[in-house]
Amino acid sequence: MEQIVKRGGTRDYDRKILASLFYDASTLTRFSFESAMSRLGGKVLTAENASTFFSVSPDDALEDTIQVVDDFCDVIVLRHNEIGGAERAAKVCTVPLINAGDGKGGQHPTQALLDLYTIHKETNKLDGLKVALVGNLAEGRTVRSLSYLLSKFERVKLYFVSPESLQMNQDILDHLVEHNTWYTMETDLHKVLPEVDVVYTTQIERSRFNGSDAEFDSFRKNYFIDKGSIQLMNRDSIILSPLPRFTEISRDIDNDPRAAYFRQTQDGMNLRMALLAWVLECQ
Ligand code: CP
Repeated sequence: MEQIVKRGGTRDYDRKILASLFYDASTLTRFSFESAMSRLGGKVLTAENASTFFSVSPDDALEDTIQVVDDFCDVIVLRHNEIGGAERAAKVCTVPLINAGDGKGGQHPTQALLDLYTIHKETNKLDGLKVALVGNLAEGRTVRSLSYLLSKFERVKLYFVSPESLQMNQDILDHLVEHNTWYTMETDLHKVLPEVDVVYTTQIERSRFNGSDAEFDSFRKNYFIDKGSIQLMNRDSIILSPLPRFTEISRDIDNDPRAAYFRQTQDGMNLRMALLAWVLECQ
């Protein structure tokens, strides 16, 4: 797909239609999927604020919507505002349905796939990786999906770095134990930075933090990556982020070669092109 994008895209899927249904805000995922489909030559139907603008019936609105929309397209990309929304939708959908993130603390599987792709491209390894997952781990769907994927590899070590009130949930920790994946829970980011190959930072939004303003300021300072803290990292380690960022990464480090988050965004579109082509071929 990287080669196809360099050549200006393809017309191979010009008879195919993607319906992009977003019930929750998105910048990267929606544009990334819609750009991916356009570069494959396909067409896009889009609802960027489906909760507000779709006419819905009071009961089982999501299921009804999916059963209508799937007649108009060949693949659906769905971001739903409730955990399990994508699973509910997939049960009634007659075309492939891709989960583009469900609820706070649900899953975001295509983000995890692209994260894994960037990690492999940048570090040339997956087995034996040491990865710090940082921020609001209790509600972050990206870190949850990435933990699942990383548990499929050998000798991976996961460092969950967050305040105690926002720690990774027990269901993921149980999954890691079942799959013999080593993990530790830390509150001190600076202690972990020298140890890891990948630092994966996630959004720290005031609106998602239940504590006082003082607690939030302390949280933000403790998990902020800037010119000082990046010095603690190994020279060949990388920083990733699902973006958009709020206050967790200083713009001052964007030109450091270890700041890989904008390369990760480009990888995401290529990966989503591959994923769309694959599901369309499987039909
Ligand atoms: N990475 C990600 O999910 O970003 P959006 O919320 O902007 O789609």
